[in-house]
Amino acid sequence: MGKISKSAAKERIALLEKELERHNHNYYVDNAPTISDFEFDLLMNELQTLEKMFPQFASANSPTQHVGSDLASPSAPTASGFEFRQVAHRYPMLSLGNTYSREEMADFDSRIRKATDKPYTFSCELKFDGTAICLTYRDGKLLHALTRGDGAKGDDVSRNVVNIKSIPQVLSGSGWPHEFEIRGEIYMPFEAFERLNAQRAEAGEEPFANPRNAASGSLKLQDPSQMKSRGLDCVLYHMLGEDLPFNTHIEAIEAAASWGLPTSSFSRRAESIEEALAYIEKWDGERKNLPFATDGIVIKVNELALQRQLGMTAKSPRWATAYKFRPEQALTPLLSIDYQVGRTGAVTPVANLEPVHLSGTVVKRASLHNLDQMMLLDIHVGDFVYVEKGGEIIPKITGVEASKRPADAKIPKFPDFCPDCGTALVRDEDEARHYCPNSFGCPTQIKGRLIHFCSRKAMDILAGDATVDQLYEKGFVTSPPDFYSLTKEQLLTLEGWQDKSADNFLSSLEERKSVPFERVLYAIGIRHVGEQTARMLARHFGSMESLQAASKEDLLQLSDIGDAVADSIVSYFSGEAGRTIVSRLREAGLQMECSADEGRVSDRLEGATIVISGNFSISREAMKSLIEAHGGKNSGSVSGKTTYLLAGEKSGPEKMKKAEKLGIKVIDEDEFYKLIG
Ligand code: IVH
Repeated sequence: MGKISKSAAKERIALLEKELERHNHNYYVDNAPTISDFEFDLLMNELQTLEKMFPQFASANSPTQHVGSDLASPSAPTASGFEFRQVAHRYPMLSLGNTYSREEMADFDSRIRKATDKPYTFSCELKFDGTAICLTYRDGKLLHALTRGDGAKGDDVSRNVVNIKSIPQVLSGSGWPHEFEIRGEIYMPFEAFERLNAQRAEAGEEPFANPRNAASGSLKLQDPSQMKSRGLDCVLYHMLGEDLPFNTHIEAIEAAASWGLPTSSFSRRAESIEEALAYIEKWDGERKNLPFATDGIVIKVNELALQRQLGMTAKSPRWATAYKFRPEQALTPLLSIDYQVGRTGAVTPVANLEPVHLSGTVVKRASLHNLDQMMLLDIHVGDFVYVEKGGEIIPKITGVEASKRPADAKIPKFPDFCPDCGTALVRDEDEARHYCPNSFGCPTQIKGRLIHFCSRKAMDILAGDATVDQLYEKGFVTSPPDFYSLTKEQLLTLEGWQDKSADNFLSSLEERKSVPFERVLYAIGIRHVGEQTARMLARHFGSMESLQAASKEDLLQLSDIGDAVADSIVSYFSGEAGRTIVSRLREAGLQMECSADEGRVSDRLEGATIVISGNFSISREAMKSLIEAHGGKNSGSVSGKTTYLLAGEKSGPEKMKKAEKLGIKVIDEDEFYKLIG
């Protein structure tokens, strides 16, 4: 790294910290990364270097000091009312140090050599690109399965893992320790990934960007039975426990395989770092023929005594490292940058490139995401830029070849005004994106919102982009309620429309008036209110009227709702335009409140009235939602009508006594989960 002034370093460290935390969230929580692993690692590397050079600016909770967390919201129920129980890891669940350079692999070996004069060997393994899992077996039975979470505690996804065929519930063979943990990766083979995405496309759902996101999204499905058809697989590569009867890692994994646990058949022992490098060489080429995604090679010290001696840093063990494969890249000139306005007004910079071949396709355009990203890359128009596909669908610019910068290359100027309607752009604090605030006057936003309103997950109206375009250009529809005043005569003036298409369209409008309230709420397109948030708001408030009446403070009570979302909801309903849309949609006959069985997951508790008492591993609110989601009714007091008293920790003695007296069945949390399957 070149020279950098103190003040520039301080600023850069702050920017990198913020960006890395944001990308961690995109990757682990939303399962929707916006940069490739390689770009992420470059940023992390830069931050590590700067923190070493300027330790006075390194903060204790910098992303260099902790692993990314997949925990969604620690205490709040998720959209369907169900939350995963969080369980502390017995041993911290760490990440791995990584490198893209073979020289650094040799440095890894030198560090180990310095620590011991005894001979040692390596285990060379594929780095499976999935989502980490930690299984605990006690007396040969699967006790629970946890995600990595924040490394200290993970989500208990046992209910879902049961549906992965390769993970045994009960071990076979003999000789397993009384209790041990085995960690590995849940992954989705390419074939299953393509099948799933094809199904999602069919159903009008957003496809997963890559198999890793699909695997981790599936693992957190609220309805475990959906897991069965997802074709997930598992490979286990790290055993932990007290006094395990093994001298080497490879022995432990071989024993695991003999107990019926899924392990990798591609792992090899290496006598030296040279042999390990040869393994890397081999798989750099051959991995393209594997039926699942890999993003590198893991090299581990094989001898467990030496592993213990080497120990670990806050984030990763010193006895293992990952060599990561570089994604395919192309170098091409950046011709210009367009600034595109989306339906929510977000302005995205898009690079126009000199067309270039990359992994079998010609790339002409690539996303630059936002101004921060442009600044991070220090991009100039005219620069030669590196483009990468890295598993994701939209190509990205991952770097700039500064040595090739032409003398006349220009720093791009992010527009101050909306390229479509000329309104001054705004950028809220803490938000990476610029927005056009003219929501109800900016043509691109209006059309974008109309298209969104008709989309499958929203009102599911038979209208594609071209129809919406025509309706808008003719001035027939400028706001969603206008759809409901369209006449057949108007439709027949559209190019290519005939009697039948007009009738079909009108009947689809009529039929879809019955879509549930949560979808209507999603359809009106409040900024930051996606499908999940709309569902959660609908279930919490029950009707548009109560949501409309909610204050920012009320909204912030829901822990899935942050400042930006709360502000956006309040501002939508306090504006004339938003209120008019809602009242006209109500007049048109759309659903403005939840029906009784909305959010049903199953009927297993149909007809049951349940009284809960005490504390559970999930919040009481989440427990109540779970009861309703399975068709049960909640009641506050025990009476002759009560079906079950669900007793948690410290449950009230009065309720217990009354239940006993009335002969009402008392169940605990585990029995309850069995009841709902
Ligand atoms: S060993 C203490 N072995 O890669 C760390 N990890 O980027 C033990 N991974 O967190 C991990 N394949 O989720 C190990 N053969 C393998 C792996 C592997 C994939 C994942 C794992 C880890 C991440 C680090």
